[in-house]
Amino acid sequence: MSTPATATSITRPQRAFRHVFLGTAIAHGALVVMQPFTAGMSLDFGRPALDWHGTTANLIVAVGFVQVIAAILALRPGRLSARTPILAIALFTAEICQLAAGYGAEFSILLPLGVGIVAGSLVLIVIAVREIRTRER
Ligand code: HEM
Repeated sequence: MSTPATATSITRPQRAFRHVFLGTAIAHGALVVMQPFTAGMSLDFGRPALDWHGTTANLIVAVGFVQVIAAILALRPGRLSARTPILAIALFTAEICQLAAGYGAEFSILLPLGVGIVAGSLVLIVIAVREIRTRER
């Protein structure tokens, strides 16, 4: 009897690499989404909130690096598209710039780049979810 046409041909490890990447992207996105709130809270609560923002920023860069590795593994062997590691690398680079802009209090860079990082991180999650759903072969 022949195999049904809809049968999936991705292996368990490939699926695992995809989901590890998705998990990393969600964790990264959750940290990034907190940033505008803690930045805003610093207007009311001052230094403690800004310290929280700064600590989260360092965590974001660390998770952003893990996300790059996970995205590369989701590409090969995971067989997702090259869009995901490209966007993950772009985000990681932007986050390093944001860290420097933050500690340098460069407001003209901080606000637009921060918004871009938030948007890019959410787009990465959407792309990951869509590709995992549609690329079963
Ligand atoms: C929409 C998102 C974001 C907004 C609106 C925002 C805004 C701000 C603002 C207003 C400050 C205060 C600057 C000052 O008073 O000197 C700040 C500081 C900072 N931001 Fe953000 N930020 C955002 C996202 C991020 C992200 C994603 C990162 C890192 C990946 C980051 C890293 C930093 C750092 C390191 C500082 C300095 C903290 C300190 O002085 O201890 N920010 N940000």
